[in-house]
Amino acid sequence: MLRLDGKVAIVTGCGSFGDGWGNGKATAVLLARQGATVYGVDVNMDAAAITRTIVEAEGNSLHVGACDVTDATQIGALVSDCLMRFGRLDILINNVGRSEPGDPETMDEATWRKQLDINLTSAFLTSKATLPVMAQQGTGAIVNISSIAGMRWVGKDQIAYAAAKAGLVQFTKVTAVSYAARGVRLNCVVPGLMMTPIVQRLADKYNAGDYEGMVAKRNAQVPMGRMGDAWDVAHAALFLASDEARYITGTELVVDGGITAFTGWPG
Ligand SMILES: NC(=O)c1ccc[n+]([C@@H]2O[C@H](COP(=O)([O-])OP(=O)(O)OC[C@H]3O[C@@H](n4cnc5c(N)ncnc54)[C@H](O)[C@@H]3O)[C@@H](O)[C@H]2O)c1
Repeated sequence: MLRLDGKVAIVTGCGSFGDGWGNGKATAVLLARQGATVYGVDVNMDAAAITRTIVEAEGNSLHVGACDVTDATQIGALVSDCLMRFGRLDILINNVGRSEPGDPETMDEATWRKQLDINLTSAFLTSKATLPVMAQQGTGAIVNISSIAGMRWVGKDQIAYAAAKAGLVQFTKVTAVSYAARGVRLNCVVPGLMMTPIVQRLADKYNAGDYEGMVAKRNAQVPMGRMGDAWDVAHAALFLASDEARYITGTELVVDGGITAFTGWPG
């Protein structure tokens, strides 16, 4: 089940913001475990190298390369290099993303535009470069990592992130329809509140640096009583990328411990 032998996968943001498991890091490790040839990219090569060390210690291999996924030229070079090295491209995991605080009054225009670039335009650019390859092969799977912030207000003002992640879902749906007859599937994983290293950054940005308070607040928002982790995202991404999901395209897999099904604790 869920084997990826013979498949070549690109994972964007294969490093992690800090120690521990980010979503892209866990996904790169898991895809390699399942037999894929994984090409991981990141802007932080130290973080990517840590992921490679973990993969190699498990007896698998991870090729890492530098690529800023907001830059079309760098993405073009990445896809060419992947094809030159491995001859094909079966899976693309668009994992890069980050949030900045603000509502329309408090966020400046430059931050808004950068947020759209990193959370939405990045997936457009990587898709633009990889879809022709996948369509020519007649097979391929793209998994975009969105967020429940694109579906609900999740307790903090992050207007551009929320708008971009919602846009990513619809970008995925309409592109999936366009490419359905050409053998390429596109889907989203929609994580809820995950216990990844970025919780520290979120505590600094949204909770006056109170990490323990931020963790408690996030756990309390979840019907299951706790955040998920990067492996919950990685397993969902693996499923959508695998041949077991061959009839699934243009949809979302929400991984949120029940948050989006929930209307609040009775008072
Ligand atoms: N952690 C959560 O609670 C949570 C919840 C919902 C959605 N998500 C989404 O999951 C995804 C990944 O989260 P994570 O926890 O792994 O984040 P992370 O910040 O730990 O890791 C992201 C990696 O991407 C790299 N990166 C940043 N900008 C880049 C760029 N322009 N080009 C290439 N690489 C770049 C970073 O160097 C880092 O190694 C994001 O899209 C995020 O929005 C996370």
